[in-house]
Amino acid sequence: MGGSLKLLLANRLKPEELRLLYKSYDIIGDIAVIRVPEALQEQSEIIAEAVMQTHKRVRSVWRQVGPVSGDLRLRELEWVVGERRTETVHREHGCVFKVDLRKCYFSPRLSYERVRITRQVQPGEVIVNMFAGVGCYSIMIAKHSEARKIFSIDINPVAVKYMRENVELNKVKERVLPLEGDAKRIVEERLRNVANRVLMPLPERAYEYLDCAVLALGLTGGWVHYYDFEHAGKGEKPVEKVKMKVAEKLENLGVKFETPFGRVVRHTGPNWYQVVLDVKTFQA
Ligand SMILES: C[S@@+](CC[C@H](N)C(=O)[O-])C[C@H]1O[C@@H](n2cnc3c(N)ncnc32)[C@H](O)[C@@H]1O
Repeated sequence: MGGSLKLLLANRLKPEELRLLYKSYDIIGDIAVIRVPEALQEQSEIIAEAVMQTHKRVRSVWRQVGPVSGDLRLRELEWVVGERRTETVHREHGCVFKVDLRKCYFSPRLSYERVRITRQVQPGEVIVNMFAGVGCYSIMIAKHSEARKIFSIDINPVAVKYMRENVELNKVKERVLPLEGDAKRIVEERLRNVANRVLMPLPERAYEYLDCAVLALGLTGGWVHYYDFEHAGKGEKPVEKVKMKVAEKLENLGVKFETPFGRVVRHTGPNWYQVVLDVKTFQA
């Protein structure tokens, strides 16, 4: 956790307890989500109060118990202090995102990725966001680029409800179209051959859905922003490993492509990385 938080806790926790604290926590709107090591569970309230003291706008603190999981990518939260609600409004680069943290995925840590992709969007583009959540990437793109249409799919009905609300709040409803359902089914039925750019921010399943992204781009080709998790031991390069895996799949699909950019988005565990590739496909 941040230096100032450690200072605040210095006379409330023992030095060996201070050393166990996790380095980071999330502030989403006026809610903080912390993770507390097993050995410090009983000190959760003290830690949460210090978070509230450090961040004056925080109204409640929740403890994440267990990883983000399941198809809907949800995290189990336990209330620690403050107001007992998980709905909040988060502000990011001129956009507002209303979200219920218990019922939808949201991560402020992807903020840079959203900006990075938004900067690449050209006027008039049609975009398919296959895993749109409450609409963060799509709304950011609509607000800060001249994209023509951003089809935004999510399978979680609650996320789609918030996405619809966020589209209104951000005044982008002419260009962001929320669609509820499985991305594969929706692309196959309604979005073949329509896109200049496809976003795949679901690292757990993007590989499985890559042929759908190709289908959405159609014959003229375009960009795919592909996310994945990769293990890389000593001497191995996670980005290169993902590039090879994706290359094999695209070659099998008979797609001409190049991958001019890839990077590690974040570490997700010992020797595990979240990776993004920007893949350009060409006319068949
Ligand atoms: C990691 S979250 C990313 C959400 C959003 N792009 C963001 O950055 O906040 C992945 C999203 O994919 C959705 N999802 C999972 N399986 C899906 C599927 N088969 N079709 C469409 N959406 C799906 C989940 O509900 C979740 O909201």
